[in-house]
Amino acid sequence: MESQKGKIDLQRLPRHIAIIMDGNGRWAQEQGQDRLFGHFHGVESVRNIVEGCAELEIGYLTLYAFSTENWDRPAYEVTGLMELLVETIRKEVETLNKNNIRLHVIGDMSMLPEYARTELNEALELTAKNGGMHLIMALSYSSRWELAEAIKRIARDARDSKLDPDTITQDTLQQYLSTRDFPDPELMIRTSGEYRISNFLLYQLAYAELYFTNVRWPDFRKENLYEAILDFQGRERRFGKTSAQIQQDVTTTPGTKTLEVFCPKDGH
Ligand code: IPE
Ligand code: IPE
Ligand code: MG
Repeated sequence: MESQKGKIDLQRLPRHIAIIMDGNGRWAQEQGQDRLFGHFHGVESVRNIVEGCAELEIGYLTLYAFSTENWDRPAYEVTGLMELLVETIRKEVETLNKNNIRLHVIGDMSMLPEYARTELNEALELTAKNGGMHLIMALSYSSRWELAEAIKRIARDARDSKLDPDTITQDTLQQYLSTRDFPDPELMIRTSGEYRISNFLLYQLAYAELYFTNVRWPDFRKENLYEAILDFQGRERRFGKTSAQIQQDVTTTPGTKTLEVFCPKDGH
């Protein structure tokens, strides 16, 4: 089949793509294999998609790898996943550096075993100078955890007189999130046919375009990514405005025109 890549408008790429990499366990079980087999194969998809995004020069890619709720899975699966994670990071640092990709991690690092934390910190340091794509791994992450943390720190700063509560705006809140250095995702992809957010970037996805596919994560490849991007490019993002406003690319103050139509100057 012909690649969809050529159809992508490179001027209108999402600046930030976020992916819920779901379906590893079912992918494995459907083949009579252990769930860990699915996670193992999911790593190949991660490589492929990171490469695909870097080739397109996507600015930011966030991958949901492990949620705070995933800690409640059977110990065997959790341990297997942690080991796979550490091993993958160790192996991939070289490729990340070669491709100028900078690694970031968001999530509750205090939950991670010591060896995983050490390995991660090393990888963060080793890629810190890279100026190409930002690869953000959401690890031991959940949005409600992140929001509770942000609120805790805001309250502390207010208590310590470092922050005046009356001056708090949306920008202030943004500064307290673990995603403070990244723009909001414009496209969110979830694989495996589940239609939910599962505690992922609840605040940051406010205006993201959501794309769901039945493809299980271990089967997800660049072509699937291109399809998602093409779908994104076919949508009209209105941000609360009307379609007509978006098409005219209205630059005047919102509402001015409406007032003139309904309240003509002669006083009717
Ligand atoms: C996603 O695949 C990876 C993680 C959550 C770590 P799952 O392990 O959730 O696979 P399914 O959804 O059970 O098939
Ligand atoms: C979401 O997948 C978390 C990750 C992909 C890391 P889950 O498989 O944990 O989500 P639910 O439980 O189906 O909502
Ligand atoms: Mg799942």
